Amino acid sequence: MSKKDTWGSDARGQSRLWSRANRGGGTSEKKIKKDEITFPKYYENIPDKLNNKTLRTYKNVPGWMNDAEWIFKDLFGDKYDLPLGGEHFVEIGTLLGQSSVRMAELIQKCNESHPDKKQIQFDSIDTFYFIIHSIKNGEHPPKFLDYINLYETGDIMDILYIQLKKLDLFGLVNYICCDSKYAHNIYQDNSLDFVWVDGSHEAEDVEQDVKNFWPKIKPGGLIAGDDYIYSAVAEKIHMFADNHKNEISKFEYPDIKKKNSGNYFKIYKRHTHEK
Ligand SMILES: C[S@@+](CC[C@H](N)C(=O)[O-])C[C@H]1O[C@@H](n2cnc3c(N)ncnc32)[C@H](O)[C@@H]1O
Repeated sequence: MSKKDTWGSDARGQSRLWSRANRGGGTSEKKIKKDEITFPKYYENIPDKLNNKTLRTYKNVPGWMNDAEWIFKDLFGDKYDLPLGGEHFVEIGTLLGQSSVRMAELIQKCNESHPDKKQIQFDSIDTFYFIIHSIKNGEHPPKFLDYINLYETGDIMDILYIQLKKLDLFGLVNYICCDSKYAHNIYQDNSLDFVWVDGSHEAEDVEQDVKNFWPKIKPGGLIAGDDYIYSAVAEKIHMFADNHKNEISKFEYPDIKKKNSGNYFKIYKRHTHEK
């Protein structure tokens, strides 16, 4: 990653690392110097000790979950009664597990509210090998480094699974080490209820992830992702939606001219009975 990396604020006012090298539409965005970093929403909650008083929720895990926070919640509904049971959800892009912990908490609440229903299966996919290095390399705020140092291991998988254990969420996330370019091969066609795309932010990679995972989505299922505010990403997503309009029941995206309207896209697959 380039040493010229800078921090930029996204549409929801959270900071995101971006560079010409790793951002899809990065050339036109306003640049902010590293000493002007605006911190993610929960930055002040990152613990300086690992105990059950300071590490209690996804809000204590450093990360860049952004719109996944409410998009995940919407899958469950206020009473956690929307899932029928046995759904299969997938996320591309784990980092330190902020969004995966959010999902695990929601699954746990769903299990508690509806013990009769079959548990949701949730996979969080990442290449993993670059995460520790990128944090040590100063590509995330310094508190990310302080946080991983609390674990006294250089192995990201250890951190993620210890974190789940400490949060009492063990068994609710399968962390899968795989490049998203190949990860769709793990799944059968029409088998996934929800895929969240938050891996590589190159517009071509986002497009590839959506194209590769689309056949894996069940009729009535949803594929959604981050970084819509980057024009190159938005362009690819609209092109995909145009090319698949006969298979799509709903395509949602924010009005990026409006402040705080979001940074996501959501594409729902048409049910076979829909006209
Ligand atoms: C924006 S972060 C994910 C943020 C995370 N969801 C959170 O809650 O903090 C993007 C992640 O995608 C991973 N990634 C990048 N390219 C990837 C690829 N081709 N396949 C799988 N993971 C990838 C990176 O290692 C990084 O951890």
